[in-house]
Formats: sequence, C-alpha cells, structure tokens
Amino acid sequence: MLSNSLPSAAVQREPVPMLDLTRQYESIRDEVQAALERVLTTQHFIGGAELESFERESAEYLEVRASVGCASGTDALWLALLAAGAGPDTSVVTTPFSFFATVSSIVRCGATPVLADIDPATLNLDPHGAAAALKRARSHKVRAVMPVHLYGQCANMDEFDWLAQEHKVAIVEDAAQAFGAKWRDRKAGALGTAAGFSFYPTKNLSAYGDAGCVTTSDEELAAHVRRLRNHGSRQRYYHEEIGWNSRLDAIQAGVLRVKLKHIDDWNQQRRMLACRYHGLLVNAGLVQAGAQSVESRAPIALLSSLPEAYHIYHQYVVRAWRRDELRSFLAGQGIGTEVYYPVPLHLQECFAYLGYRAGDLPESERAAKEALALPMFPELREDEQQRVAAAIAEFYSR
Ligand SMILES: Cc1ncc(COP(=O)(O)O)c(C=O)c1O
Repeated sequence: MLSNSLPSAAVQREPVPMLDLTRQYESIRDEVQAALERVLTTQHFIGGAELESFERESAEYLEVRASVGCASGTDALWLALLAAGAGPDTSVVTTPFSFFATVSSIVRCGATPVLADIDPATLNLDPHGAAAALKRARSHKVRAVMPVHLYGQCANMDEFDWLAQEHKVAIVEDAAQAFGAKWRDRKAGALGTAAGFSFYPTKNLSAYGDAGCVTTSDEELAAHVRRLRNHGSRQRYYHEEIGWNSRLDAIQAGVLRVKLKHIDDWNQQRRMLACRYHGLLVNAGLVQAGAQSVESRAPIALLSSLPEAYHIYHQYVVRAWRRDELRSFLAGQGIGTEVYYPVPLHLQECFAYLGYRAGDLPESERAAKEALALPMFPELREDEQQRVAAAIAEFYSR
C-alpha cells in the first residue's frame, strides 16, 4: 500500500517541533529590537503613537475603516459581540468546533450560544446548519452569527452574507486564526459587521504576549469598542457607559507593526508548505482523493480548500485514522503535533446547561476524534516535512 519513496523515519530522528518561534525571531531580531527601543525611549506604554500607527496600518492592510487594539482575541470577540448588540435575551449562532473563547465570548455578553454543526469538508461552520439553527432559535432573538475562519480558511462568506440579509443579523467573524486570509478578493476581518483577531504568540500574526483587535467598517461600532475597551470613557474620568480595561499596549503594537510588514511573505510560505505536505502524503499512498473518511486503506483524509478562499494555513490539519495512536507514535519520534480540538464545545462540562448531548452535532464530534495538526510555521524546512510524512507512513505500514 505505502510507497518507499520517503526517507525512513528510522534513519533520521531529528526532532521536528510543532512550532519554533525562535527561527522567526532570528529573521526579524534587528527590526524588533529597534521597535522596542523606540517604545522604551518614549516611555509611552498605553495608547499613543505606536498603538495609533498599528491601528492605522492594520486597518489599511485589511481594507477596513477601523482596527481597535484590545488585550486579547478573547476580549476582541467579546467587545465586538457587545457592540453588535449581543446581550441578555439575545442569542448568537456559532460553531462548537473551535477554541473555547468562540462560545465563552457569547456567554460573557449575557447572550445564549446556539450551536450548529460543521461542514465535514472544511470543518468550518456549515451555513445550512446555521440557517436551520437561526430558524429554530427565532424566538430567542438571534443578534449575530459568528463563523470562525478555522485553521486560516474563511468560512463560506457568500452563504453567511446571504444569511445576514435574509435574517437581519450581524455577522461577527472569529478571525483569530486568519490574519491575511481572503474570501474572494476581500480579507478576513472585512467580511462581516465586525471581526475579532487574536495575536496570541502562536498565531500567524503574533505579539510577544496577549493581544488582539476588533476590525469593522462601521465607524459607530468602532467608536463603541474604543469606549468599551477603555472603561466606557472617551474623556478621562467621564464614563458614558460601563466599560473595562482591554487595551493593546504600545510594546505589543510595536512588535505587531514589524510583523505586519512580513505577514504576506509568511502566509505565502505557509501555503507552499501546505502544498508540499499534500504532495508528500499523497505520494506516500496515505490519502484517497476526495475522501472525507479515514480507514486502514486510506488512513489520512485531507481537508478541502474552497476555490473562493485564500487559505493561509495557520494550521495544517488532516483527518487521521487511529489519530491518538499516530500522535503518540510521532511524539516518540520527536515530532510535535496538536489536536485542535479534542472536545467540541457543546460537550464541554461548563456548557452542559445549554442542553446539548453527545450525538447532537455529529460532524463536530467526528472531527474532534480525527483532526490532527502537523508542524506548520513559515520557517519549517523541506527535510522536516519529509520526516513528518515518512514517520506517518511508517506508523501505518506497521
Ligand atoms: C478561533 C479562536 N478564537 C478565539 C481565540 C482567542 O484568542 P486569545 O487567545 O488571543 O484570547 C483563539 C486563540 O486562542 C482562537 O483560535
């Protein structure tokens, strides 16, 4: 079944990390240090020119009217949802196959999450499932739909645009994993009413600590988020509404400004690496074309990349037969992998009060058992990818 064209993993046993940020730092060290020095020289750490420059430059890059820096991606989603009208007695439709903050941000607004299943081809929220959930939840006053651009691929935004118009709801993108991704010719972050980005250190555009931003082309919504992130205040010590402290600090803004200049190259490199993984896995005889299921004869299934999507491969994820055993085998070979996400959010203990049961959202549950992320970062080398593919082939040939 399996080709012998790959170098044997038994021969090469160099570790392959899931992510190695030191390689990126080596390539931008001087620029980052100059940016840090600039901020340290001014001793202006909160607000000010560095933050304003990042907000202007990121808005220009994403082609939106406003980018509002926040303390994290989690806060960005929460503030974007609040500003879009989510609150008590409202609900928000989203996917259970995402990071916890996708759903917790809804709960934090006082709203009710309504969960719909995913498209098994991409693992993104299925617009048809979302439409059905919208109809079911009509009485709960759905205020927004929150598609997640999972792994760096935009959800089907043609369908979500249509849903927004049909049902008069806001679209709040969870764009945490998708800086620079596109749907047709528009970038993630510019595709709905508002969006939340995360700049957590492992993200494709990442800070040196927690950071995030809200993007929107609705000036009023942007002004609202600016107030909410700063104690509900436009003018110091005058509070029009209750807000919080969720600001992006100047040091993080300085780092992000440096990395913004490189993001297109890095994303392009990720796409090239994804293409190479694809070739390696197919050539090793591990994949059956078009399959969405995994079994002993075709143990790896590749996710689909939609033609309208410019996928930036924040993560390179496949479905894998006997996923957990494969993962342990790879770990034994020094190869890092991750599972995004092992428990779908509707089955998390803390969301039991929402009333979902095992079997309710079967595609999300299947993905949670099969999805495996392979090492992916722009500086990953060809020999490392070959080693990953060879080790996977070795596991399935035993
Ligand atoms: C899909 C998704 N949503 C939200 C978040 C939350 O972002 P943060 O960790 O910056 O709070 C993350 C990242 O962790 C994410 O991957």
